[in-house]
Amino acid sequence: MSDLVDRLLASMTLEEKLGQLNMIDAGTPPYDEAEMERQIAAGRIGSLLNIRDPERLNRWQAMALGSRLKIPLIFGLDVLHGHYTIYPLPIAEACAFDPELWERTAKISVEETGRDGITMTFAPMLDVCRDPRWGRIAECPGEDAYVASRFAEAKIRGYQGTDLSRRESIAATAKHLGAYGAVEAGRDYGSVNVSERQLAETYLPPFEAAVKAGVSSIMPAFNDVAGIPMTAHGDLLNDLVRETWGFEGVMVSDYTAVAELIAHGIADDLTHAASIALMAGVDIDMQDQAYVQGLPKALERGLVTMADIDRAVRRVLTLKAKLGLFDEPYRRVSAPPLSETQVKEFTALARDSARRSVVLLKNDNNTLPITSKNKKIALIGPLADAPLEMFGCWFAAAPLESVTILHGLKTALPNADIRHVKGVEIEGGDTNGIAEAVALAKASDTIVLSLGETKDMTGEAHSRGRIELPGHQRALAEAIFALGKPVIVVLSHGRPVAAPWLFERAEAVVSSWFLGSEAGHGIADVMTGKWNPSAKLCVTWPYDGGQIPIFHSQRSTGRPANPEVYFSTRHVDLPIEPQFPFGHGLSYTRYALSNLKVPSEFTEGDTVTVAVDVSNEGSVAGEETLFLFLRDPVASIARPVLELKGFAKATLKSGERKTVCFTLKPADFEFLDKNLQPRFESGAFEVSVGQSADRTKLLTAKVQGNAR
Ligand code: BGC
Repeated sequence: MSDLVDRLLASMTLEEKLGQLNMIDAGTPPYDEAEMERQIAAGRIGSLLNIRDPERLNRWQAMALGSRLKIPLIFGLDVLHGHYTIYPLPIAEACAFDPELWERTAKISVEETGRDGITMTFAPMLDVCRDPRWGRIAECPGEDAYVASRFAEAKIRGYQGTDLSRRESIAATAKHLGAYGAVEAGRDYGSVNVSERQLAETYLPPFEAAVKAGVSSIMPAFNDVAGIPMTAHGDLLNDLVRETWGFEGVMVSDYTAVAELIAHGIADDLTHAASIALMAGVDIDMQDQAYVQGLPKALERGLVTMADIDRAVRRVLTLKAKLGLFDEPYRRVSAPPLSETQVKEFTALARDSARRSVVLLKNDNNTLPITSKNKKIALIGPLADAPLEMFGCWFAAAPLESVTILHGLKTALPNADIRHVKGVEIEGGDTNGIAEAVALAKASDTIVLSLGETKDMTGEAHSRGRIELPGHQRALAEAIFALGKPVIVVLSHGRPVAAPWLFERAEAVVSSWFLGSEAGHGIADVMTGKWNPSAKLCVTWPYDGGQIPIFHSQRSTGRPANPEVYFSTRHVDLPIEPQFPFGHGLSYTRYALSNLKVPSEFTEGDTVTVAVDVSNEGSVAGEETLFLFLRDPVASIARPVLELKGFAKATLKSGERKTVCFTLKPADFEFLDKNLQPRFESGAFEVSVGQSADRTKLLTAKVQGNAR
């Protein structure tokens, strides 16, 4: 492999080298296709993104192979949660707390993307996010670095498999490094001002996990961190990621991010911008042609050397070789079409992943599940029959139809009389339809309100300053609540929605996020009890936008929050607690934890086993996720009140009890000292296990850790 790369490098002109670093969007009009084809044929483009048309893709691959050095193209695409079959949004799927599922949906997405000739995906998205105003929270695995790290490993296994050259594998990209989830006020593309500690403890670990899992590519984020745009952040990209972590893959810029160094205010022209990005370690320049246009002049000005360019080209060629593109450039596209069995399998997985991602937030008086007693069902609201909305953001290749909530419920309950009235639009419109909705609700024995956001209210460039229900939906809901009948609410959304009035008055609330192709069946499975809900929130759900950022691993402070103490860490006009804690999620049964077993002491470097009994005390079988938290109550650096160190599932029949074991590794007991170096300090640690991060309900035991 390296012989081939050496040979190619030795014979390349500067233009051909820069071509390999040049990635162009071939799917977003307007663009000059004829000009693009000329450049491909001349070896001036090394990769394309956003194409979903195998015919054109093959044509362009043939042109690249007809170029002087016959170097194949990479085709990149964002495959965040499926391709033709769409799985739940990443934030939803993260709520399943199921690494096997995370891996499987990625693996099966590749079956579809591969056939479209895609060889690289810009996923997984690993930004930890604690600010639901940020639209891209929908794309990420939630607020916790531990969860995001496990998500990273599973997705990378799914996309890349064990051998990148196989037809079943594509190159994964861990994005967006780093701290993009912490943009100020949740405004997309904004500035980030986090401490080095927060970077190291919270935002970088998922990327380190991705590197350890063998990720092929990393995308630096659009944002700056304390004044240094990530596209220019050599200290992080080169020194930390490449040197310290040992990353050997490709760094691909975000879309036009190299040229944006000018707008950031750190480069005065494209030449300067291109040289800064290249020297920082960015190999591929996405879409802005900054390298092609800027690097020749940068060479002349002595801002970069040919060796710097060669280094980047070598990485790109090595990736192409690892993908097997030199040997079989068309192999993925020439795979046999999907069989009926495969399509069935993908659909079944879409349904299973959907129901495993539904979080039951509230269920007073066992209002759910709906049973045969529920005969006349009013399904009211603007998201009940909204096939396109169910996909959420990033569903590039999906067909226009998903299973709606209306269709799902009608299929699941063929004998019920289910009527639907929209009432209001998701956003905008008027309140004229509310009267019809109220009339239907009055005449029904069961009322389901389907409320939420549009799919476009989250995702890139879709940050919201207010995270409440948009449009006239509150007016609709209030009119229905005024009837005094029990109301079930199904929320479709890409971020936690602040609506305390709704959580107060609804009898049951289901958070269904955006669940993809099989959304309606997944929701119906949960609502009818065919699936006992098992998902848990991967983000703390704020009571009000004013609480942001609110997350489970906050520090205690010198005046810990206390409603009884005036001079304590709180708002005077908001509750201290969130609406729902991280990990919250009900089921149709009750689980009880007991018998937490932790050794009384251990020595630095030891592995510590934690065991707890969990029993199913209700009448139906279920699957429960337990969380393992650690707290170091006295350390030379104040530690968070809870740090997640593990999660595990138990599947339990009614009345069954199991012992669940967790392993705490030596590194779990360390923290970063004042020089950000890992350090172990002797003392007592609190080990807690619980069903969520609600600290009032955790089982806690102390273990004494002694330095070696
Ligand atoms: C997004 C990336 C994405 C890229 C290519 C950018 O606007 O920030 O996440 O991978 O576009 O589609």
